[in-house]
Amino acid sequence: MTTTPASPSPTAVAAEAFLRNFHNNGPGQQSVGVQGAPLADGRTGYQVLAAQVAGARRVLDLGCADGALLEVLGAAGAEELAGIDLSDQELELARARPALRGADLRQGRAQELPFADGSFDAVVSHMALMLMHDVDRVAAEAARVLVPGGRFAVAVGGGAVEGQAMSLFLDLARPYFKAAPPERSLPALGNPRVRKRESLDELLGPAGFAPVSWDTVVLDMGGTPEEVWASNAGGLYDMMALDEEETARLRAEFLAAAPALQDADGRVPSGMRLNIAVTRLPAT
Ligand SMILES: C[S@@+](CC[C@H](N)C(=O)[O-])C[C@H]1O[C@@H](n2cnc3c(N)ncnc32)[C@H](O)[C@@H]1O
Repeated sequence: MTTTPASPSPTAVAAEAFLRNFHNNGPGQQSVGVQGAPLADGRTGYQVLAAQVAGARRVLDLGCADGALLEVLGAAGAEELAGIDLSDQELELARARPALRGADLRQGRAQELPFADGSFDAVVSHMALMLMHDVDRVAAEAARVLVPGGRFAVAVGGGAVEGQAMSLFLDLARPYFKAAPPERSLPALGNPRVRKRESLDELLGPAGFAPVSWDTVVLDMGGTPEEVWASNAGGLYDMMALDEEETARLRAEFLAAAPALQDADGRVPSGMRLNIAVTRLPAT
């Protein structure tokens, strides 16, 4: 049985309207970025997360977007796949994947899951839980739709590697984000407590989850200065706060400063940490 949802908080309403609009206007961008930023061993963040729920037969992805992670889960052996996302344009792309022909893909909120109690062996979420408000509701819903002993595995951003190009980009960009006029400012996206092990445990514990295991991997987002500019400027929600002229100035500043980091091949290192947190419900 699905539960009667509490009304979304005003912060959640604002954040979700922004995210829905952003992803409806540019679906599919996130998975291109993830596939272009593997770990040093060649695995993608999707593969790292999928490995945490190996053996689970029925898996739900919260914030599944264009279904790239679901496809990896299916290839790894999951038989019943389901996903939920705010953006119907992202879901259109997911539905177009032949590998997801049998998947149950829903437009909706992770805080109000349209799935029955105990219908999944694992729930996953890649770079999406960190954007959600009312996380206690998400945790309660994940616990409700999981079987006893079910796993909850999430990947959340862990920040830029210091001294590299993403960090340089953010140092240059922050003053622009701060100076954006109110009509262009972004709503607060997500609850920062999700990004730290101890506070994530505090959020998940009341729903019945055990303390998480926590692992940090580094994604390689390096390339030429132009490539690193494109991946950062194209992938960051905050860039929506800049107008054309500000974007052009930031680009010029980045392209002037980045060559100081270049190696002999003309490549600038750029790393981002990804934190992988995994927990379980008690078996009975
Ligand atoms: C950064 S993208 C990550 C997409 C995908 N998990 C991936 O890594 O390729 C975040 C996604 O989460 C979705 N999302 C954010 N908040 C959500 C919520 N409360 N319920 C469902 N989906 C949500 C957005 O619509 C967006 O598609």
